Amino acid sequence: MADRKWRRTQRVAEVSEQDLGKELCLMGWCARQRDLGNIVFIVLRDRSGELQLVFDEEAGDGLVEQAKALRSEYVIGVKGVLRERESANPDMPTGKWELAVKDLIVYSKAETPPFYIEDTDNSRESLHLEYRYLDLRRPKMRDKMIFRHKFNKFTRDWFDAEGFLEIETPYLVKSTPEGARDYLVPSRVHQGKFFALPQSPQILKQILMVSGFDRYMQLARCFRDEDLRADRQPEFTQIDAEMSFVDQEDVFDVVERYFHDLFKELLDYDIQLPVQRMTYADAMRDYGTDKPDLRFDLKLVDITELVQDTDFRVLSANTKPGHRVVAIKVSGAEFSRREIDKLTEVVRTYGAKGLLWIQKTAAELRSSFSKQVTPELLGSIAEKMLVQEGDYIFIVGDEDLVASRALGQLRLELAKQLELIPENTWAPLWVIDFPMFEYDDELEAYVPAHHPFTSPLPEDRDKLRTEPENCRAQSYDFVLNGNELLSGSIRIHDADLQHEIFDLLGMSEEEIQKRFGFLIKAFRYGVPPHGGFAIGLDRLVMLMTNSDSIRDIIAFPKVQNSACLMSEAPSSVPEADIEALGLELKEAAKEDKK
Ligand code: AMO
Repeated sequence: MADRKWRRTQRVAEVSEQDLGKELCLMGWCARQRDLGNIVFIVLRDRSGELQLVFDEEAGDGLVEQAKALRSEYVIGVKGVLRERESANPDMPTGKWELAVKDLIVYSKAETPPFYIEDTDNSRESLHLEYRYLDLRRPKMRDKMIFRHKFNKFTRDWFDAEGFLEIETPYLVKSTPEGARDYLVPSRVHQGKFFALPQSPQILKQILMVSGFDRYMQLARCFRDEDLRADRQPEFTQIDAEMSFVDQEDVFDVVERYFHDLFKELLDYDIQLPVQRMTYADAMRDYGTDKPDLRFDLKLVDITELVQDTDFRVLSANTKPGHRVVAIKVSGAEFSRREIDKLTEVVRTYGAKGLLWIQKTAAELRSSFSKQVTPELLGSIAEKMLVQEGDYIFIVGDEDLVASRALGQLRLELAKQLELIPENTWAPLWVIDFPMFEYDDELEAYVPAHHPFTSPLPEDRDKLRTEPENCRAQSYDFVLNGNELLSGSIRIHDADLQHEIFDLLGMSEEEIQKRFGFLIKAFRYGVPPHGGFAIGLDRLVMLMTNSDSIRDIIAFPKVQNSACLMSEAPSSVPEADIEALGLELKEAAKEDKK
């Protein structure tokens, strides 16, 4: 083993034509070995890629013997001369060259990895997450981390050039409401009191506007104790921004140009500006969701009026106020009974009672409810839906939201099944004019649809007290291919109005002071009109890298039950640490600890 100090000259895939004939020093992991007796080939890997090493008689017998002893994932350093390969490997970016090794140093040995360090490895995800450091050696994962780095750098530079200042806000904060449960951190010094990890820097960025920073941004880590899904993590990153002296148009201008430049720079894709806009009401009516995927058509069609006089109660009962009957037309597919049963399951999952269908054949209109309605009614539905031979119509009648959501989900399912979603297409959309409040049946109270700092639309200001359910907000979402990527709003900058909203949400004076007193106080000292947004960075990187799960673009993600499989966090801690916080575990929790 060499004992002098070795310095790497470059990464393995950074070799080039100019290095031919030169002596290089490279370091990395042994990816593969081929032992041909008197000659040994090793593929050396580092974060830049791979390069073939050759140990042959020129290197000397001792070295060939040492090379034979190398195993997968050993970490080595080599010195040697770069030369052209006798037969180039066109599948390898460095396939034209090889390093004829003259000297070798083994930095560390490795146990046999539990899975192949290759993109094609299909072992279960939990194994990949337990050994995440090995998983991250796979080219696909490595490239995603590199992409995320470039993404972050581009983003910081872009916002900097637009005059935004990155200001870090704390992780230990007073609980701020964003609709999820807080992660709490007990205070040792103030026993019985808790910090919360921020669900977002919402209040603090508004206070930064009061401080006069007028354009703030931050790649902000957020924490939410909520049920995880493929696009959700308990700990995630936002591109969080806030601007003073702006209206909605100013915010849209910044966001649209950012998305345009980002996609151009990182994917060489031209997003057409301006981005289409749709009101929340129209999105729900035509797509059954507040995040429509516009890469394909398949719009929902309202047929409530057509069916109001039929004796068939399944339809007519859903024509009363607050209800609707909606239909969707599908062309170019045949559905078996079983397939229709499966589609029915989809709408049932979203609360609908059932799914009706009509099919136009050469001879007639076949339907699941032919016996219950007149042929004229079937005819008029078919006419409204502009059906052609072979087309199917699927129908759901229910309460407004249930019917819309259920058929909206069926729309997505049908698009997937019929492969209607084009690849490499980006369909951005602004959804605007969200309602201010949603009625929470469990709480029996109004809750903010976005958050309580969102300003109402000026023309709906009078509805706040009289008909809160019809009051719209100056809030907006940016949707990409059916994913909610951004939320934001123009904020309330009037202390009285802010107070009125808290009051409307059923908060007592004491509660307002306890939770938001510091914001209301700050607002007494000169607050500019302001608004902003937060982009789900992980979700955006997930889409841009064509990843199936948000876990793929986070170096050390959590799984479904919010645990980290690699470090086994969360874990129990010594009882003395808990006592020092002035806390005591319940017996049941102690049992779990064992
Ligand atoms: P909101 O709560 O809508 O708004 O969050 C903004 C965006 O963050 C992403 N996001 C998530 N990504 C991964 N995992 C999660 N658990 C998760 N939750 C949200 C989404 C979402 O659109 N303070 C406001 C923004 C503002 O008004 O300025 C906020 O946090 O892409």
